[in-house]
Amino acid sequence: MQTTLQYIQDNKARFVDELFELLRIPSISADPAYKNEVLRCADWVANSLQKAGADHVEVCQTKGYPIVYGDKFISPELPTVLVYGHYDVQPADPLELWTKPPFEPYIEKTALHPEGAIFARGSADDKGQFFMHLKAFEAMMATQTLPCNVKFILEGEEEVGSESLGDFVHENQEKLACDCILISDTHIYSNEQPTVTTGLRGLSYVEVEVEGPNRDLHSGLYGGAVPNPIHVLSRMIAQLIDEDGRITIDGFYDNVQVVSDEERAEMNKLKDNPEEYKKSIGLSGVEGEKGYTTLERTSIRPTLDCNGMWGGYTGEGAKTVIPSKAFAKISMRLVPYQTPEEITEKFTQYFKKIAPDNVKVKVTPHHGGMPYVLPSDTKEFLAAKKAMESAFGKEVLPYRGGGSIPITAMFEQVLGAKSVLMGFGLDSDAIHSPNEHYGLFNFYKGIESIPLFFENYTK
Ligand code: BES
Ligand code: MN
Ligand code: MN
Repeated sequence: MQTTLQYIQDNKARFVDELFELLRIPSISADPAYKNEVLRCADWVANSLQKAGADHVEVCQTKGYPIVYGDKFISPELPTVLVYGHYDVQPADPLELWTKPPFEPYIEKTALHPEGAIFARGSADDKGQFFMHLKAFEAMMATQTLPCNVKFILEGEEEVGSESLGDFVHENQEKLACDCILISDTHIYSNEQPTVTTGLRGLSYVEVEVEGPNRDLHSGLYGGAVPNPIHVLSRMIAQLIDEDGRITIDGFYDNVQVVSDEERAEMNKLKDNPEEYKKSIGLSGVEGEKGYTTLERTSIRPTLDCNGMWGGYTGEGAKTVIPSKAFAKISMRLVPYQTPEEITEKFTQYFKKIAPDNVKVKVTPHHGGMPYVLPSDTKEFLAAKKAMESAFGKEVLPYRGGGSIPITAMFEQVLGAKSVLMGFGLDSDAIHSPNEHYGLFNFYKGIESIPLFFENYTK
């Protein structure tokens, strides 16, 4: 009988061909124009799961995009691992900044991926990553080495807030019953220093509107005598963060988890490489909350960012106008024990408080999510660490991530199971950006690590 690793080696090239097929489907959940493509993608995933050897494969309808389910049951004595991933992707714009079209995958070498990387929207987030699970499962089935029960759920609304999945989990607790959840939708520190993610930040997302005059005004006739909502909004946003990089919202830090000095020392073993970091994003200097390293600022500390701002005239040429309204979208990344409800409320209060009397302010909350932590002494973490140590041949360290996967906290609450965040991307893979890519090395290391996780966890 062939070993799992041998099977993976022998079928490597085909795995990439199949992933290319998946990447050619523009499953953009945010844009209704792509509805049929998202639906086609769900069918493609279900078909692929079936071919890999899963039973009970189903494209479960929801009020949004479908959830693909499948499982393989071996024995009630054995643990059950639930694999989660998302087949939807972010919109690809701005299109003109892509070297080649976003849904025509190709391979090219980069400085950090000398063995080549797959370029396409969704290559790292999350198609290339969840597809590793389908291929690892196929390998275990083909070599009769699957050591425990496995269930798969692949959703199509992660990038827009996982609303249907929330309902689905509540309504299907028995169907989804499991001992742990395995997710590859995060990144490692570097290919030389592999890590297992021990936490994700939560999210509070709001849209704000400032209204000044009741209509757009001629800036010559009225300028200098009335509040300009763009100026007002700019001042208000600028005021949300002080000179020390601290967020000024009343009570914002009240519930923030204080991370012990030991834990900070442990996490800072992953060395910030400031020069490399700055170079990779084209900056001459970084900034952030005083007293914390870049690694800490992007993981254990909450943050606030304006994601977009608009109002007035933004077309070709010049138009002299004072707009009636100005808008912005603002995200806040949360850490334990902040909650999106608490922070959205505190933001709203504060934003209204700092607004001058002569404008009207509206705050509209969008989807949010809870932070999540997987302690590094849990059996789930240790099984992942050991699996990746064998696959990479290197020591694996814990790593707190800065992004958000809100469903992890919900899984824990509803299914009572921990999520293991065994992702394989790099933070430089340009997820959500033009020229998103995923290293072939990372893709293969992932496929090799997954069966080892199953083995360690079962033991
Ligand atoms: N896979 C990412 C989250 C991620 C990436 C976490 C890298 C850690 C490291 C996920 O698809 C994502 O983009 N999440 C959104 C939140 C969601 C509610 C839209 C995010 O983090 O902005
Ligand atoms: Mn993702
Ligand atoms: Mn994403």
